[in-house]
Amino acid sequence: MEKRAVSIYIHIPFCEKKCPYCDFVSFDNKSEREIALYAENLCQEIKEFNAESADGVCASTVFFGGGTPSFIAPYHIKRILDTIRGTFNVLPSAEITIECNPNSLTDKKLAEYKSFGINRISIGVQSFDNDTLKKLGRTHTAEQAAAAVHAARKAGFTNINIDLMHSIPNSALTIRHPELLNLVTHVSAYALTPDQVPEAQSIREQKLVEKMLRANGFKKYEVSNFARPGYECEHNKVYWDPTREYLGFGTGAHSLFNNKRFSDTESYERTENDIFVETVMLGLRTTRGVSLDILNGKQKQIEELLKLKLVKITKNRLVATQKGFFVLNAIIRKLTG
Ligand SMILES: C[S@@+](CC[C@H](N)C(=O)[O-])C[C@H]1O[C@@H](n2cnc3c(N)ncnc32)[C@H](O)[C@@H]1O
Ligand code: SF4
Repeated sequence: MEKRAVSIYIHIPFCEKKCPYCDFVSFDNKSEREIALYAENLCQEIKEFNAESADGVCASTVFFGGGTPSFIAPYHIKRILDTIRGTFNVLPSAEITIECNPNSLTDKKLAEYKSFGINRISIGVQSFDNDTLKKLGRTHTAEQAAAAVHAARKAGFTNINIDLMHSIPNSALTIRHPELLNLVTHVSAYALTPDQVPEAQSIREQKLVEKMLRANGFKKYEVSNFARPGYECEHNKVYWDPTREYLGFGTGAHSLFNNKRFSDTESYERTENDIFVETVMLGLRTTRGVSLDILNGKQKQIEELLKLKLVKITKNRLVATQKGFFVLNAIIRKLTG
């Protein structure tokens, strides 16, 4: 029997210091004892899932996200990964990512991650400008962030993402250290939320980031994500395709499995309309767009969007144009309302 591929997300909700802008589930000031207990419970949760329904399931991606997974001792990561391997038959080709903060990533940790089979490093660089980093309340400098990227390369990682943020109030977008881009394969560039700068400024900054990334060999494949050829994030691509399944473990993690979406706080079975809305909403975030086959009955809306040059049709798929990506929510509302 062919095994069914799922993606696995592990939530590590600990950080050295909570950033004022961040609304991810994450806590600072937790003791080693609390962290160890969390890791133990997480392993238990994974094993219990196995007892229920992991039979016939294999893992095509694993993502340690946060919070800051690099903040906790690597042996917790190893133990969790071993538990996943003991439960899910992790494919040899699986993409295994860990999210890291520049100041908690050491050469020793990187060597350990490599020995665990982790093959993708994601580093929260956020900005190349020290004043902006200070304004954001980050605990590292741009130089430390650059050093972390160099260290990841030196440790032998060939698939490296950096997170950047733009649209930060009272802070002109600064593109420094462009040489760093030569060392990375993927960039996630997010506008700071909630919106705190005028829309026109945010669009200007987004365009500037995109131009800089294009000039350095990156291709946009999702509203905030850019990759060199062959380095799109396999894990995130699963989230944007509502036909694919993922399992999240830990507090704040979400799952989609057996047509059910569930987390610590909610659980529901998707209706046909839910699947339609998700397909349009998630598909249009990507440069693959959404198949016209599911948009039967929306010809009038599509015509209007085409006239406004907010969408285009490529190989029987509806795709947002560059202009359309800036008003994605309005396009989605029009097509799903
Ligand atoms: C879970 S954090 C990543 C890892 C690590 N804890 C860090 O901060 O470097 C994921 C990313 O979300 C982005 N992020 C967090 N809060 C945000 C916000 N309010 N607006 C936009 N992006 C945000 C940051 O770029 C951050 O790197
Ligand atoms: S370090 Fe990362 S996860 Fe932690 S609070 Fe800051 S942005 Fe959020």
